[in-house]
This record gives sequence, structure tokens and C-alpha cells, in this order.
Amino acid sequence: MVKVKIHRWEFREVKEPSFLMPFAKLKWDWIKTAKRFVDFFSDFEEMVVVGMGGSSLGTKTIHQFLKFKAKRKVFFIDNVDPLLVGSVLRRISWKTTCFAFVSKSGKTLETVTIFNIILKELEKRRLKAGKRIILIGDEGNAFCTLAREQNLQFAPIPQEIGGRFSVFTFVGIIPSLFAGYSVERLYSGAEKALNEKQLAYNIAEWKFYHYRHGRRISVMMPYSSFLSEFTEWYSQLWGESLGKEKKGQTPLRAVGTVSQHSTLQLFMDGPDDKLFQFIFVKNFPFDFSLPQNAKILSFLGEKTLTQVLEAEYIGTVTALLSRGRPVLEITASRVCEETLGFLFMTYMLAVVKMGELLGVNPYGQPAVEVGKKTAREILIGGKK
Ligand code: PA5
Repeated sequence: MVKVKIHRWEFREVKEPSFLMPFAKLKWDWIKTAKRFVDFFSDFEEMVVVGMGGSSLGTKTIHQFLKFKAKRKVFFIDNVDPLLVGSVLRRISWKTTCFAFVSKSGKTLETVTIFNIILKELEKRRLKAGKRIILIGDEGNAFCTLAREQNLQFAPIPQEIGGRFSVFTFVGIIPSLFAGYSVERLYSGAEKALNEKQLAYNIAEWKFYHYRHGRRISVMMPYSSFLSEFTEWYSQLWGESLGKEKKGQTPLRAVGTVSQHSTLQLFMDGPDDKLFQFIFVKNFPFDFSLPQNAKILSFLGEKTLTQVLEAEYIGTVTALLSRGRPVLEITASRVCEETLGFLFMTYMLAVVKMGELLGVNPYGQPAVEVGKKTAREILIGGKK
């Protein structure tokens, strides 16, 4: 299924982190409950998911990677960018669209702004909010109260599971079930990662080793454009969890082969301050082969797209290794739920271990609040 190779690294037995890891206790009965919520929306053909950071990046990753087999459409709004909001709201068919608003606090500025806009649009069209809205948030917080007051569906997120660790809760699984993906298989991938915890801890040790040797940049480069959202999810996880007390390892997103034509020069010849994590998928759900008499580059004759992609991938990895750069390779056998479940859980375990090694608390994001406070003050009118 998923194999990980850490080059020039001796696998060792690593001590469990002392931090609690509530996200690592998968509750299989959540799937049953989530299915009931999704059944409530069985008449709808499209879902708009509104949430920020940990309340949407995992779900976006799942949908981007698996949407070739989606049974229903899912759109995301994760910005108050009028172009994004406009493009989604102009594409949906209002009568057949339901909405999932996701926010643990229930107070995130962007999510609450979009909620109010959509509520107003529904009222304008005389469409009942109670039939088509679900709020997903922490019990006792603003979404929970609002759902009760307005008679909206409400799905709770366990308080002890932080936003960027919440993809296996209702946050990720309700939209996934709506689209028709198998959450059982997502969980199976995660269980596999839990059974191979030592791998995650070795990843952390390896990354920490290089951190101490001045490699403060951590590149994530999947060889599929449909894993670019995974690099966003990973960036939040690695950046927000570890960037504390003047410590941290800066996540850098790249996508093969695209980035070979932009940042690879820097990776190869620039400062030796990075480590590289690659993801390669062995089998795609579709492939194309070139004609026997391929034009211009005749050696392409009868090759498949996957072969071309793999050749470029091997070329990049070999080149970096030849320069002595630290490389980790993840090879997934298929584009499937298990692959993502494994990747999410492995990196969540790894970041907690890395937090301990760095001496920072991987949970919480105190610094993010500073900018939020100013934005609120501006909107309240206290500041121009
Ligand atoms: O990881 C986190 O906790 C954050 O990125 C949150 O997910 C993000 O700020 C959104 O918060 P909320 O779910 O309260 O809307």
C-alpha cells in the first residue's frame, strides 16, 4: 500500500512522545453517526464546505485526490476573497445544494462572514436553512448554540482534538461520505499508520537530526497535481504546530513535475538548508500511451504517461541524492482512501514527536491570534 524509505538513515526504536494524542483514537462509530447526517441531505446533489485551516484543509485534500470517483459535487470556500465566493455561489444550483460550515470555535471571522452571506442568499430565495445547513463545531461553542436556536443540524467535534488534527472527525468524514468516499478505508489507512508508529517517530527523528544540522526547510513534493492540497495540509500541520518560541522547520510546498521547472534549481544548487519528502503514486486510475512514432522525441514512442512521470521522478530523486541532500520517499500503490489515511496519521504522529524533540508544544497556535485581534478591531470600527 504505502512504503516509506528514508535514505541514509538507520531505523531505530524511538520513545513514544509524552504528549497526549487524542486524534490517534479512531472512533469507528462516528462513521455510523456521520452516515445519518449525510442521509439527512440525501436529496441534495452538491455540498459547499466552508471552513478555515484545520477545519477544511484535510477535507480539501481528500476531495482533490479522490474526486475522479466522486458521486456528488463538493465545493470549498476558505477565503473571504469575493472572486472565490462569487465563483462558487454562481456555479451551484441553490435548490439542490446543501452547506457544511465547519468551525471548532464557531467564531472564525471568515467562516462566520460566509455563513451570514449564505443565510441571506437562502432567505432571498425563500429556501429553508434548516433543511440544507449543517454546522460542525465544538459542543458548547457558538455553532452549537446557533444550531439549537435556528434549528439547524449540528455535528460535534471533540474538544480535545485540535483543528489541524481533526480530519478523522466529523470535520473530514461528513463531506467525504457525502461525496461517496469510503471512510472505512480512510480509517484503515490510519490504523495501519498507528500500527507502524515507529515509522512516524523515525521521520520525526530524521527531520530533527537535519534541523540540528541547519536544515530548517522541509520540502514536501508529491508527484501529482492532485496532491497539492496535501502539501497545504502538511504546511499547516508542520508550520502551525512547530513554529513557536523562535523554533520551527519551515514547510515548503512543491509539486512534481511542475516544480522541476521552477524551484529544482534552488533545491539542487542552492544552500544545503532543506530536506526533501517525495510522494510517488505507482498506479493512477487512468493512463495514456503515446503513439509508436512519437513526434520530436522519438524515445517517447509507446511510453505511458506514468512512465514519463516516473522517469522524471527518479531523475529528481537521484540528482538530489547525488548532491548528498536528505531525501525521504513515500511510494503509494494506488490513488485511494487508505493512502490518505496513512499519510494523515503518519504526519500527525510525526509532528507531535517533533514538537517534543524541539521542546515546543505542538498543540495550539497562540501567535495566530494577534492578527485576528487587529482585524476584529478594524471591523468593529475602533481602528482605521
Ligand atoms: O489548527 C487549528 O486549530 C486552526 O488552524 C483552526 O483550524 C483554524 O484557525 C480554524 O478555526 P475554527 O475551527 O475555530 O474555525
